[in-house]
Amino acid sequence: MLEYFHRLAASVVGLILVIALVWSWTKKAFRKPLAPWITAAFLLLGVQINLGRLTVTELLKAEIVAMHLGTAVIIFALLLIATRHAYHLESGNRVGSRIQASKGFLRVTWLAIVVLFVQIMLGGSVSANYAGLACPDFPTCNSLWFPGFDGRVGIQFIHRLGAIVATLALLFFMFRWKDVLPSKPSTKGGQSFPVYWSRFPCFIGVLLVIQWLLGVGMILLGGTLTSMRIPPPLSVTHLGVGLTLISLVICAYVEFRPDSKKLP
Ligand code: HEM
Repeated sequence: MLEYFHRLAASVVGLILVIALVWSWTKKAFRKPLAPWITAAFLLLGVQINLGRLTVTELLKAEIVAMHLGTAVIIFALLLIATRHAYHLESGNRVGSRIQASKGFLRVTWLAIVVLFVQIMLGGSVSANYAGLACPDFPTCNSLWFPGFDGRVGIQFIHRLGAIVATLALLFFMFRWKDVLPSKPSTKGGQSFPVYWSRFPCFIGVLLVIQWLLGVGMILLGGTLTSMRIPPPLSVTHLGVGLTLISLVICAYVEFRPDSKKLP
């Protein structure tokens, strides 16, 4: 049943993407800001369908499942960027801060995106290899602080190390947020600075705490269940929060990157 709905959802996504693709190429105003992103997403959808087919025929081979997740994240990111551009087009470019951030800030933002993407892929690998409960304790792993990198324990341990790196990258990103904050309340460079951007690091911080609680919760709860199973609602929420975190940082990058002013 779940598999059927997954296929059904994929068909709906495909159909919407075809409509968006045709629309973005036929309407002149959309061509430059939207068509490249939507075309890239469409091409990747072909890769994704093939990976989906391989996931079934190769009986859930872990690497293929992880790649399927990674491609889904990239398609989502491309569509997110297109949506953000469409939003600016729709509102006559008045939405958003239109502030150009320093190169240093953009580098930190880019780093956070890459680190988060790798961490999501590592998470996908934990899940696909059924390594979530390879060590059912925390903060130690099978009572060891350094369990090594072998087998399922290694996969779980690398995801934990990745979580520390991702947290540091996001803390750094939050710390550098002051670079784009207005010097006077509500304005910078004479332009309005929406309140959601002012609160942005708080959203990221809260999501990060939730993500850790979910991660640790899955391990501790899963380990105590008689079935020794990761509770699916926690796993799905963990995936959703990971995706939300990377989406938010991508939105920040799109908003503050140097050529964002050039949008028609
Ligand atoms: C920024 C931090 C983190 C991100 C972005 C992240 C992301 C992810 C993602 C995307 C998955 C795949 C979920 C799925 O395919 O269902 C995953 C799986 C997992 N993560 Fe994390 N994670 C983070 C931190 C943590 C932490 C701190 C822990 C615990 C110490 C943890 C434990 C797990 C476990 C046990 C799974 C396997 C779930 C399953 O088998 O369904 N994660 N993570």
